[in-house]
Amino acid sequence: MKLFDPITINGMTVPNRIVYPAIQMNMGLTNRRARAFYAERSRGGTGLIITANTSVDNFACEELWGGEKELAGFISRCHQLVDQVHEAGGKIGVQLWNGNRFPQGRGTQVAGREADPSSGDRIAPSAMEDMRALTPFEIESLIYRFAKGARKVREAGFDCVELHGAHRYLLCQFTSPEVNKRTDKYGGDLNGRMKFGLDTVKAVRAFVGKDFPVLFRLGALDNDGVISPESLTYARELEKAGVDCLDISTSGYGKFPVSPVKRDKMGTLVPLAEAIKKVVKIPIIAVGKINTPEIAEGILTKGQADMVAIGRQLIADPFWPEKVKTGRFNEVVACDSCNINCYSPAFERKLPPNAPLCKKNARVGKEWDESATRVE
Ligand SMILES: Cc1cc2nc3c(=O)[nH]c(=O)nc-3n(C[C@H](O)[C@H](O)[C@H](O)COP(=O)(O)O)c2cc1C
Repeated sequence: MKLFDPITINGMTVPNRIVYPAIQMNMGLTNRRARAFYAERSRGGTGLIITANTSVDNFACEELWGGEKELAGFISRCHQLVDQVHEAGGKIGVQLWNGNRFPQGRGTQVAGREADPSSGDRIAPSAMEDMRALTPFEIESLIYRFAKGARKVREAGFDCVELHGAHRYLLCQFTSPEVNKRTDKYGGDLNGRMKFGLDTVKAVRAFVGKDFPVLFRLGALDNDGVISPESLTYARELEKAGVDCLDISTSGYGKFPVSPVKRDKMGTLVPLAEAIKKVVKIPIIAVGKINTPEIAEGILTKGQADMVAIGRQLIADPFWPEKVKTGRFNEVVACDSCNINCYSPAFERKLPPNAPLCKKNARVGKEWDESATRVE
């Protein structure tokens, strides 16, 4: 199966085409729980893991940790996570993010509910709700922090970095004409609206060097379910700016859901990836209810994408890849896209005490505990 062919992205050889995408369940990054959670997905056969969205300031701001030594301590603890994933046979990258639209105070460490770290204000491209518009100086400071953060991700031993430019978060907001009403060089026509994203990528590239894989999660804009030509242009420009691989999801502003639910069909977001695949040369990752081997393999053989991200299905059953590879698909514990338990920690929905993080897999978040029920 093509699903199990290796792929090399700017020097990083991923053993197969299966990606576990960023999924925020407030597990953190360097603690025993997160290490065991991610390592179990690698042991189950996932080729590349992208960590949950992580506030860029966790990697870029000494102040957030209380000083240079403390940030260095965090970076050094990241090595344990990387080592555990490598031992299990996988690759791992960090998703760097500015989560401006999440309500909170100062950026918390790791899980990341985030505001501007210097002022604590909630910020946006243009003033909206209770957020104020970023000044050009603040935009430049953010670009610098993404670049510095990406370099620290490399120093921490990760195999790659992903910039979160989707799902109505800051980088994505800048591209949307509905949200970005700026009249300076970061707004207006498409060139203006792409500038923050492109400048960020160029700065990241300059800081990490030529030989470190930079992935970009592009939130495609759509007009009534048809990808916007603006997103095709943006994809091409991101490639020129130095992105090595585009992970295609939705902006969250149009018809495509971020996390498709039961009624949505398998491969919901694949048309977005397929359209972008046609206009760039770099590898493309598709996502969105790619839960069966037939769908996953079909995407690869039809050339709709080069890799498939399988999110909630790998929460429900981290051994999906191994089971598929060894012809045991009938043993897979199927995700039913309920978006209930896995959603709750990050989006503050209340669950009964001790409710599992997945209705189908009571072991999620307890992988460190040898006695927790397995789905292997
Ligand atoms: C609980 C939850 C948290 C998520 N957190 C993130 C995130 O941190 N960053 C991101 O880019 N996407 C995030 N997503 C979206 C997933 O990465 C993925 O694109 C989406 O779930 C669709 O893929 P799937 O159908 O295979 O789960 C999240 C989705 C869920 C359900």
